[in-house]
Amino acid sequence: MISLGIVGVTGRMGASLLTSLQEHTNLCLDAVLVRSPVTSLPSLPTHTRQETDPHAFMKDLDVVIDFSTPDLSLTLLEAARAHKIPLLVCTTGHTNAFDARAMSAATTIPLMIAPNTSLGVAVLDILLARAAPLLETFDVALHEVHHVHKKDAPSGTAKSLLKTLQGALPPHKEIQVTCQRLGGVLGEHTVSFASEDEALTLSHTCINRALFAKGALHAAQWLAVQPPGRYTMHDMLLASHHF
Ligand SMILES: NC(=O)c1ccc[n+]([C@@H]2O[C@H](COP(=O)([O-])OP(=O)(O)OC[C@H]3O[C@@H](n4cnc5c(N)ncnc54)[C@H](OP(=O)(O)O)[C@@H]3O)[C@@H](O)[C@H]2O)c1
Repeated sequence: MISLGIVGVTGRMGASLLTSLQEHTNLCLDAVLVRSPVTSLPSLPTHTRQETDPHAFMKDLDVVIDFSTPDLSLTLLEAARAHKIPLLVCTTGHTNAFDARAMSAATTIPLMIAPNTSLGVAVLDILLARAAPLLETFDVALHEVHHVHKKDAPSGTAKSLLKTLQGALPPHKEIQVTCQRLGGVLGEHTVSFASEDEALTLSHTCINRALFAKGALHAAQWLAVQPPGRYTMHDMLLASHHF
């Protein structure tokens, strides 16, 4: 049994995680980190510790899933490092400072930064790395659409796909990035390659928020038994070939 901790349990993704957890009999939700203890979460197991201090929260856990805010992620990174707890960061909107601290923390703990925990987006990332060099003379554009409550733009997923494209294309190649905040859209990412004669479009649509929760729970189980290092969903997919 893997001892799991969740940060952000009162949020949109937290609710989805609690629902999906019921299908994971080998994950035991032993602790949640909250601003103050909550009584309004009927699906929270009664044995789950509710902690307000990140260090007390980390105690004896096998892995932590973070769906919260960039500021809190940074605190969690340091706490996970101090307690040597594997950490899955699903929160988006981090600064470059976070990236530098993450590189350093990954020498001590298994750390996955996953701005998108869906299987489809991990495959999209693999496809882009293959397609971009073959279409390097084409114009390239990346467009993302999310619900109006999303705080960061471009999305963490868009930034991650952009990084893949930049790594696969010649330096200084222009990539147009556009964003829309629209109603309740859960998440759409579209990459278009176009020449004068043809266009190729690769697109991913989130149909149900549960997909992120399912992917995160699967990734957490995988991460809990990895050696220290920095991982992505891409790494997990290639290592395990399935969810
Ligand atoms: N990786 C992925 O696949 C994926 C998918 C969807 C979303 N996300 C990202 O995940 C993050 C959360 O998304 P969401 O839609 O669930 O947001 P949300 O509904 O606003 O939830 C944020 C959660 O963080 C908690 N939180 C914030 N500051 C805290 C603090 N100081 N102490 C304890 N808890 C704190 C909130 O608690 P309160 O209720 O007390 O405020 C809430 O539970 C965002 O960055 C989003 O972009 C990632």
